[in-house]
Amino acid sequence: MTSTIAGKRYPEKFGWRGVLEEYREFLPISVDSPVVTLLEGGTPLLPAPKLSDRVGATVFLKLEGMNPTGSFKDRGMTLAISKAVEEGAKAVICASTGNTSASAAAYAARAGLPCAVLIPEGHIALGKLAQALIHGAKVLQVKGNFDAALRIVRELAEIVPVTVVNSINPYRILGQQTGAFEVVDALGEAPDVHCMPVGNAGNITAYWLGYKHYLEKGRANGLPVMMGFQAEGAAPIVVGHPIADPETVATAIRIGNPASWEGAVHAAEESGGRIAAVSDQEILAAYRFLAREESVFCEAASATAVAGLIKYGVEPGSKVVCVLTGHGLKDPDLAISQIEVPEVVEAELSAVVDRLSLQ
Ligand code: F0G
Repeated sequence: MTSTIAGKRYPEKFGWRGVLEEYREFLPISVDSPVVTLLEGGTPLLPAPKLSDRVGATVFLKLEGMNPTGSFKDRGMTLAISKAVEEGAKAVICASTGNTSASAAAYAARAGLPCAVLIPEGHIALGKLAQALIHGAKVLQVKGNFDAALRIVRELAEIVPVTVVNSINPYRILGQQTGAFEVVDALGEAPDVHCMPVGNAGNITAYWLGYKHYLEKGRANGLPVMMGFQAEGAAPIVVGHPIADPETVATAIRIGNPASWEGAVHAAEESGGRIAAVSDQEILAAYRFLAREESVFCEAASATAVAGLIKYGVEPGSKVVCVLTGHGLKDPDLAISQIEVPEVVEAELSAVVDRLSLQ
């Protein structure tokens, strides 16, 4: 038995083949389409017993930090970059709060395409900046927020031949649907409730599309209620108007005018769910809870999904999936700010024994 990955044949035991090969029949690619993959997707759906007890439901965590560049963005980027290659793009560009740029840089490098990135000055986690740079992207820090950077990217694409790989590129959304496919495949059915963070709102749009797509194709027997959570200081959809100066500790979702606003509202309304806000304190409490009680180190933005679940609750006994969108290691500074810095002791057994109180 053999397996096809990016048009080449490998032994079947090679395993997971990346989302384009695994879900080819649900995606807009043909047998001749180039496939640029880092074998993204296939991420764990981890049962969360302590969180389940806490909210009186059965909760699973979709660990999107386990993707090749450490966030869910890889699911959409494999399709967007593959299509850019197919369509003969000369270069790609994105605005980003960090993760999109890390993913775009990695997939562009894989495809041999130049990649340009605009980030909000001083407001992205260092790990994400390091990723974009080490993968060879041309990075510019804009004196403004994500919304300003995305506006410039849109305008630039009108005057220079460059492919935008933000989620305004429809292939990003279509690729990100695969997250929903995997949830249904793992559970054998759609969950009752789906919780996730909302920033630029592409991912909630994509998950809802994915759940509906799977239902239409007879691969699922129902649809979840979609719960999207924004940070209080960056909650334009909740307050009903754009926010000029969004602010939150969860820098990945520090966005005041989401590009897929309509998609998020539609997902919430059509599914009988809602878009609601959680405070930075609630986000950080969920971030620490996940690390201490469930052994999952995720980003603050990702913890927003769990903060929302804890704050707003669900029907007792519901089956709930929370998408943890990115890996905690991307932002060690935030983690360190949440704990006590380790004490320094003499390099002597007695000094260590004294301090550890293990006896
Ligand atoms: N969680 C993380 C870790 C993210 O990086 C993002 C978005 C989101 C949640 C929200 O997803 O935008 O689809 O609603 N990050 C984008 C970026 C904006 O540039 O990396 P969304």
